[in-house]
Amino acid sequence: MTKTTISLIKADIGSSPGHVVVYEPLMEKAEELLEKAKENGLLIDFMVFNAGDDTNLLMTHEKGVNSEEIHKLAWDIFMDLGKDAREYGLYGAGQDLLTDTFSGNVKGMGPGVAEMEIEERPAEPIIVFAMDKTEPGAFNYPIFNIFANPFNTAGLVIDPKLHEGFKFNIMDIYHNKYLSLSCPEQMYDLLALVGAPGHYVIKSVFSKNEELGQAAVISTDKLSLIAGKYVGKDDPVAVVRSQSGFPAVGEVLEAFTLGHLVSGWMRGSHRGPLMPVSLEYSQNGRFDGPPRVVSLGFQLKNGKIVGPVDLFDDVSFDHVRRRANEIADYIRAHGPFEPSRLPLSEMEYTTLPEVLKKFENMFTDE
Ligand code: 13P
Ligand code: 13P
Ligand code: MG
Ligand code: MG
Repeated sequence: MTKTTISLIKADIGSSPGHVVVYEPLMEKAEELLEKAKENGLLIDFMVFNAGDDTNLLMTHEKGVNSEEIHKLAWDIFMDLGKDAREYGLYGAGQDLLTDTFSGNVKGMGPGVAEMEIEERPAEPIIVFAMDKTEPGAFNYPIFNIFANPFNTAGLVIDPKLHEGFKFNIMDIYHNKYLSLSCPEQMYDLLALVGAPGHYVIKSVFSKNEELGQAAVISTDKLSLIAGKYVGKDDPVAVVRSQSGFPAVGEVLEAFTLGHLVSGWMRGSHRGPLMPVSLEYSQNGRFDGPPRVVSLGFQLKNGKIVGPVDLFDDVSFDHVRRRANEIADYIRAHGPFEPSRLPLSEMEYTTLPEVLKKFENMFTDE
């Protein structure tokens, strides 16, 4: 059986105004360029969509993960869009393109990548997510809930195909090391680590049934560490498989009903509730947020994207959005105080060294 690869590659190429939303002509250009790649036979199918100011290229093909051809295609498109973004005068033009020359793989060059190669089941439901104004660890909470929490995913208890649980591959983003933990047996160990989403990030999830294989993948390209300094955040993307041995679509989406607190709002330096929105409302207004997540679901058939649906374009998420906005009011009322503002070590912007320097010799013992 042939294998299909789903590659979701994203970058912030520039937006208007400020960090609000991708400028539409950029997405049209990306579509034209991907259409050419499809005509040339490199891609089977594709979709372009945005999460706030991030441009997402969803591509299907048979080249496997880390394919130089596919990564180069995405890189060249981003470079091309970056040029346009500069001409249009967009904000943060080329923000996520950290180097000028492609070196075989976009990893470490700025864009975020979530990709997996799967053997398609006869009916293969896929859900992709893209978040803005946050960080890869923002996926820890929902991914844990989807694949390990029986209060979220009923199938873990009542579906024999899910009952064995899942394996989580986590990444220590400070040391670039990986660890695999198995749930439910090692659930408390897993939570001890991924409860610190600024340090340990869920990278991928696997079924314990080897025939089913990989269940999910999350982009973990931490820009701050790639560049050795903060250069803009690392708004993450993820690909999740669903149904028939994996959590149901509704179990996957259920994990986004809290409006859980994530890091990365305003200037990459604040916490806020993650609000699930339709593509139409994927723009950041209030205090450059609140942080948002969009989701597309579709059936994959021989690599074709069949019947894509904007999954958060749904009245059953209205109250989640309302609550997220109330949480946003509450946390914003703290102004420059933690925990609204991030701790000093995690802020993208800080005046602290200057403030300390100004008063360097003025601290007294009493
Ligand atoms: P500037 O300081 O470049 O205007 O950007 C503010 C901001 O929103 C950065 O993330
Ligand atoms: P992005 O990381 O989405 O470009 O946002 C920058 C920011 O900090 C806006 O306040
Ligand atoms: Mg931006
Ligand atoms: Mg962004």
